[in-house]
Amino acid sequence: MHDFQYKNDTLYCEDVAVPTVAAAVGTPFYLYSAATLTRHFAAFDRAFADIPHLTCFAAKSCANIAILRLFATLGGGADIVSGGELFRARTAGVDPRKIVYSGVGKTADEIRAALTAGILMLNVESEQELAQIQAVAAGMGLKAPVSFRVNPDVDPKTHAYISTGLAKNKFGIPIGEALRVYLAARELPNITIKGVSCHIGSQLTQVSPFVESLAKVKGFIAQLAEQGIGITHLDLGGGLGIRYNAEEPPEPAEYARAIKQELGGLDCTLILEPGRVLVGNAGALVTKVLYTKEGLKKFIIVDAGMNDLARPSLYDAFHLIQAVERPGREQEVADVVGPICETGDFLARNRVMPKAAAGDLLAVMSAGAYGFSMSSNYNSRPRVAEVLVHRDDFHVIRARETHEALIQGESIPDFLRRQDVMALQFPIPFTKMSGTGNDFIFIDHRTPFLTREEMPAFARAVCERRFSVGADGLIFIENSETADFRWQFLNGDGSWAEMCGNGARCAARFAHARGIAPARMRFETVAGLIEAEVTGQSVKLKMTAPTGLRLHEKLTVNGQEQVVHSLNTGVPHAVLFREDIRQAPVLELGRIIRFHEHFQPAGTNVNFVQQQAGNGLIVRTYERGVEGETLACGTGAVASAIIAGLLGQVRPPVAVTTSGGEQLVIHYSLAGQEIAEVYLEGPANFIYEGRLHAEALRSK
Ligand code: LLP
Repeated sequence: MHDFQYKNDTLYCEDVAVPTVAAAVGTPFYLYSAATLTRHFAAFDRAFADIPHLTCFAAKSCANIAILRLFATLGGGADIVSGGELFRARTAGVDPRKIVYSGVGKTADEIRAALTAGILMLNVESEQELAQIQAVAAGMGLKAPVSFRVNPDVDPKTHAYISTGLAKNKFGIPIGEALRVYLAARELPNITIKGVSCHIGSQLTQVSPFVESLAKVKGFIAQLAEQGIGITHLDLGGGLGIRYNAEEPPEPAEYARAIKQELGGLDCTLILEPGRVLVGNAGALVTKVLYTKEGLKKFIIVDAGMNDLARPSLYDAFHLIQAVERPGREQEVADVVGPICETGDFLARNRVMPKAAAGDLLAVMSAGAYGFSMSSNYNSRPRVAEVLVHRDDFHVIRARETHEALIQGESIPDFLRRQDVMALQFPIPFTKMSGTGNDFIFIDHRTPFLTREEMPAFARAVCERRFSVGADGLIFIENSETADFRWQFLNGDGSWAEMCGNGARCAARFAHARGIAPARMRFETVAGLIEAEVTGQSVKLKMTAPTGLRLHEKLTVNGQEQVVHSLNTGVPHAVLFREDIRQAPVLELGRIIRFHEHFQPAGTNVNFVQQQAGNGLIVRTYERGVEGETLACGTGAVASAIIAGLLGQVRPPVAVTTSGGEQLVIHYSLAGQEIAEVYLEGPANFIYEGRLHAEALRSK
C-alpha cells in the first residue's frame, strides 16, 4: 500500500533509511515516496482507463511543485482553487488544458489569470461569480469555458468540516436552482458551457454517497439535454478516503466500478479530482522527541507541532505514530505534543506508544495529504523541509524555511522609527494660536501620553523656530477634578510657566471651541484657578489678586538710577515709565533688571510703559523665559495698567496697546491701594491646526 517499511528495526522510505534523511536535513520534515505516489496515481487513473477521463490532482492536498510535476509526468492534470495554485501548477509544467479551477471565491484577478493561461474550465459556484467571469472574459475579448458546481444535497458521512455536498454547506449552486442558472448562462456572450461539476466532501469511506450524488447529477444532465444544453465534461470532484487507522475505504478500482456503472453510457469526459487518495499514505511527517515528562499524564514532547500538521488539532484526526527505530520496544500510554503554546497542540492523545526518550525519531504516518499544505508559521516556526525519496536517493523538494524568510515582506513603518513609546503618538494633532503677539502650541492632553518629566524637552523641541513648529510656549490641556480643565504650560525654552494672560485667553478659547469648557469657565493653573469668559474671538480673564506691590523703588543700573515699580499679577512684573517708548532699551535694560539681584531668585518680567492720550498706555515687555522682547504680555499689561492707575495716570478700564499693535483692555477696581476685580480682555486667535511628526523633535 505504501513504501514505508521497517528493515532491521529501522523505518525506511523505499530504500532510504529515515534516520539518514533526518541526519541530513534535520527535523521535522515531510517525507514522500515517489514510488507510492506513482503507484497510487496509476491505480486510480487506470481504474478509469476504459472511459474518456482526466485525473486532475487536487493541488491543495499537497501543492509542492515536484509532486505536481510527478503527476503531470504521469499524464495527470490539476484541480486548483486559487491563483497561487494556478501559479504552482503552471510552474510545475501542468498542461493548462488539464487544469480545472474550483473554489467559492475566485477574484477577478484570479479569473483573468486562469483565462490567460487557457485552462480547461472554471467550476462556477454562484450566479454572482458567473457575472464576474462574464465581465472579465468580455474585457479580455474571449469566451470563458465553465462548468457549474451543483450542490446535490447528499450526506458524504464524513467530518462536518470537510462535508461540502450538503445543502447547508457553502459550496455550489443548489441542484434545484441550477437549471435556471444554466439557461441564463447560455445567453451570456462570453461564456461557453462545458460541463457540470460536483464535489461532496473529503475522506469518504463508502461509495454510496458518490453514487447517490452522481445519480442526482445525471438526472440534472438529462434536464439540461431537454433544454438543448449538451455538456462535454462531467467533473465528479475528489473525496475518496484512505486508511488512517481502522477505516476500510473502497479501493480506487471499486470506486471506479461503481461510478462507471452509475454513469451508464453518458457521453462526456469524466474529470476526477483526487487528492488524499493519491498522496495521503505516500507521506509521513518525521519529528524528533525533545523531552518527555510525566505528571498526571505522560507527555512526549516533539519538535513538530500543530503548525506543521494541523489535522489532529483541527479535526481530531488520527495519525498513526511509529518509532523510526526499534518499534518493538516496551510500550506506554502517552500524549504526543508539540512545542506550541496551545493545549490543542497535539499529534496524538492517550496513545499506546513505544517508550520514548529524547532524541528518538517518530514518523507521523499518512501525513502526505493536507499536511505540509496546511502548515503555517504559527509561533513563528519556520515551515519544515519536504523531501522526496526516489528509490535509494532523496531530494529536498522544499528547503526548511529560514528566519529571514519568516519576516520577508515585513517592515517597520516610519512612525515607529523612534524607539520609544512616544513614537506611537505621532502624528500628534496640535493647534497653533496667537494672543496679541504671543504664539502658543496647544495639545489636547486629556488622554495623556507625556509624563511631566518629558514635557520640558518636548516643549523645547517643538517650540524651536525654524526647526519645528516654533512658538513662545506650549500648553497641554488636561482634565481637572476641580475645574473645567487644567493646563500644563511651558515656555519655549522648556521651563515651566506659571501664568500668562495671552496664553490663558488662548487656552480659554481653545477649550471652549473644543467643547472642553463652557463660555464662562474656570481652569486650573499652578498660579491658581483662572476664570474666563469667551465672547467671539475675545476673551476676558479674571486675574488672580495681584500681590507684592512696590512703588518707586530705585535701582542702580550701570551707574544710573532707575525708578522701578513692581507687582505680581500671577508672575512678577517690574514697570518702568518712559516718555518715548520707541527709544526704550527693552532688550538691554530689560535683561539687566530681569536678572537684577533685587528680584532674585525668581527674576522678573520688565515692562516699559508710555502714557497715551485718552486713558491709554503703550507697553513693551521683556519676558522672563523668552529672554527677549515679546509682542505682548497680558500680565505685564495688567501690572502696567494697575500701577499707572495707582500713580494716577489712567482710570480703569485701561486700553493697552502692545508692541504687536493689538489692544488689550484692563478692568479693575481700586479702593486706595486695594486692587480688586482684575480682568484682562483681549483677542485670542486660531492660526492653524497641524499634526506633529516625530521629526518635529530634533534631538537636542
Ligand atoms: N475537489 C474539490 C473541489 C475539493 O474541494 C477537494 C477537497 C478535492 C477535490 C480533493 O478532495 P480529496 O480527494 O483530497 O478528498 N483539510 C481536510 C480536507 C479538505 C478537503 C477540501 N477539498 C483534511 O485534512 O482532511
